[in-house]
Amino acid sequence: MNISVIGAGYVGLITGACLAKLGNQVTLIDTDKEKIEAIKRGECPIFEKGLEDILRTAQLDARSDIGSAIKTSEISFVCVGTDPGDGSYSIDLRSVSEVAEAIGEASNDHCLTVIKSTVVPETTEEVIIPLLEKNGRKAGVDFGVCVNPEFLREGFAVEDFLNPDRIVIGEINKQSGDILADLYKGFGCPILRFDLRTAEAIKYASNAFLAAKISFINEIGNICKELSIDTYNVAKGIGYDPRIGDKFLNAGIGFGGSCLPKDLRALIGQSVSIGYRPRLLEEVLNVNEAQNLRMIRLLKKHIPDLRGKNIGILGLAFKAGTDDVRESKAIGVINALLSEGAKVRAYDPVAMDNFRRLFPEITYGSAEAVLASDAILILTEWQEFASLDYAGKIVIDGKRILKARRAKIYEGICW
Ligand code: UGA
Repeated sequence: MNISVIGAGYVGLITGACLAKLGNQVTLIDTDKEKIEAIKRGECPIFEKGLEDILRTAQLDARSDIGSAIKTSEISFVCVGTDPGDGSYSIDLRSVSEVAEAIGEASNDHCLTVIKSTVVPETTEEVIIPLLEKNGRKAGVDFGVCVNPEFLREGFAVEDFLNPDRIVIGEINKQSGDILADLYKGFGCPILRFDLRTAEAIKYASNAFLAAKISFINEIGNICKELSIDTYNVAKGIGYDPRIGDKFLNAGIGFGGSCLPKDLRALIGQSVSIGYRPRLLEEVLNVNEAQNLRMIRLLKKHIPDLRGKNIGILGLAFKAGTDDVRESKAIGVINALLSEGAKVRAYDPVAMDNFRRLFPEITYGSAEAVLASDAILILTEWQEFASLDYAGKIVIDGKRILKARRAKIYEGICW
């Protein structure tokens, strides 16, 4: 199929690259000309397992002009960001709106527009479709519309795209859904078809549930810690119950990244705006916001006055397998250390450049340099941290690097 993918951010890059790998004619569109030139040279703008190989080998066109590609596309995927970037309880629809307007102006009569950008329920109907219809053509009559949320995990996104557990299609009408279902027909997973707003809600409910699972196990973990119980054993013990499941029960410093926190906030915001206060979701967020600061409390058990102390940080990425530092829990921990007067030295195998933009004032160095600090906090579950020599050190572990138990003093956050 002839496909355009608008927005060469995380979701757009993976979607475009994987659809091209599957034999579609894909044009990736982004206003960032430098990024487009890099993609054309076969370079990968983000650190994501398997993506570089696909970008190097797949036939993928990339350009910054939206109109020319849209005119010849059978399907246009909208993959631009909606993160307000300021921690607010809403989504930023500026990019989605601009793109919808441009598609409305440029597209031919048979184009299907697919919203992959994460938008709260009703957005496609209330905001996007009116913009697509601006030049007088009618959605569901003259052109098709679908919502097709993504459930990709950073670090496994290529694998997740090519082997999804389900594909969710929200459709304005059957004809629209049929076109998208046809694109995905080779995927050996259930294809679930609903109306537009249900598909939008599934994305938010999915991320809210995952977030709730993490805050739940962290809360249990905080109780267990006080009782000298290893939460991971408790998680194992409950995870065998298929109603609970054993996934996403890794207690630690809480959830970060560009998705779970912002989607939870947006869902809370929308819920409040329609007159319902979602207390459980609010607490999921509150538990998460306090969780990483437990690292400081545990550290101060051993070094009560942090003024002038060298504190080493292992791990800056919001999770292993990515260089993404958006809403990384390391941010709150480092801010707290700096406000206590500590000197911070940090190491991450891939995320130091991104983190340096946020914190130019701290020192960056090798893992060995970090190990020479007065105490070490482990904040990302990078495999390589398991092969470091922690003997004689004070280690506060937020990510369960068990090898670190050989330290002189070892504290696990929930174990
Ligand atoms: C998340 C969802 O898992 C994806 O399904 C979804 O598509 C994506 O958001 C999105 O909306 O785009 P991602 O942000 O890549 O994916 O990361 P996760 O693997 O979900 O991890 C999120 C955070 O939770 C990380 O900080 C991670 O360390 C933490 N986490 C995860 C835990 O603390 N414990 C766990 O058991 C699992």
